[in-house]
Amino acid sequence: MFRKEQTDPDQFYSAIAADAVGQLARHTELAGRIVVDVGGGPGYFSAAFRAAGAHSYPFEPDYEEMARRGEPPPGAVLADGYWLPVADASADICFSSNVLEHVPDPAGLIAEMIRVIRPGGLIYLSFTNWYSPWGGHEMSPWHLLGANFAARRYLRKYGRPPKHTVGENLYRVHVGPTLRLIRARADVEIVDQLPRYYPSWCRFILRLPWLRELVTWNLLVIARRTT
Ligand SMILES: C[S@@+](CC[C@H](N)C(=O)[O-])C[C@H]1O[C@@H](n2cnc3c(N)ncnc32)[C@H](O)[C@@H]1O
Repeated sequence: MFRKEQTDPDQFYSAIAADAVGQLARHTELAGRIVVDVGGGPGYFSAAFRAAGAHSYPFEPDYEEMARRGEPPPGAVLADGYWLPVADASADICFSSNVLEHVPDPAGLIAEMIRVIRPGGLIYLSFTNWYSPWGGHEMSPWHLLGANFAARRYLRKYGRPPKHTVGENLYRVHVGPTLRLIRARADVEIVDQLPRYYPSWCRFILRLPWLRELVTWNLLVIARRTT
């Protein structure tokens, strides 16, 4: 499926979205729930939540991303994930897929996600960690030899600069520090953590410091707000 991401994005993103909705459905009822989809882009994930009966709204700061499939998706809100125009504790689920590595202050984004969910509600946080085989996105795996080297190599090979520039729209986010950051919050508890896209028995990888940074393609954390 990943190989088809460029040629058939609808099939690829719809499948990934259905998978994410299924992962959340193991922890909560979705029908009738309010979902804040942070960095929801053109709305594949919100569409999957709606198909499951939830009221889902993509919050996306980039209009071009939002309208990538033509019209903005239903219920879309042009907004930055750091300052969600959502009242405190008013959503059941705050969802973010592959956004954290694109913001300069990951802790700020996580804090804002927690702010908008009610006690008992869930956050779904997933991102591509820097040392993942896909950490450098289109520059991968050469980012492992340094961001500047990877960018220069990309330019030489394709004759155009890469879409992402480290420090501008792609940031180094890691598995261990992110898990520690969430665990340190007194108002949330982690209910599931896994290397996303891998079979569920691969959860053990996240218990292995260092190795988890290299072999986790994408970290997924589902956490419940407790107070
Ligand atoms: C790689 S795309 C992911 C889109 C979609 N969530 C998915 O998983 O396919 C990253 C998205 O994050 C958005 N983004 C970047 N900075 C953001 C911010 N500060 N707040 C919310 N979204 C942001 C981008 O505009 C883009 O739509």
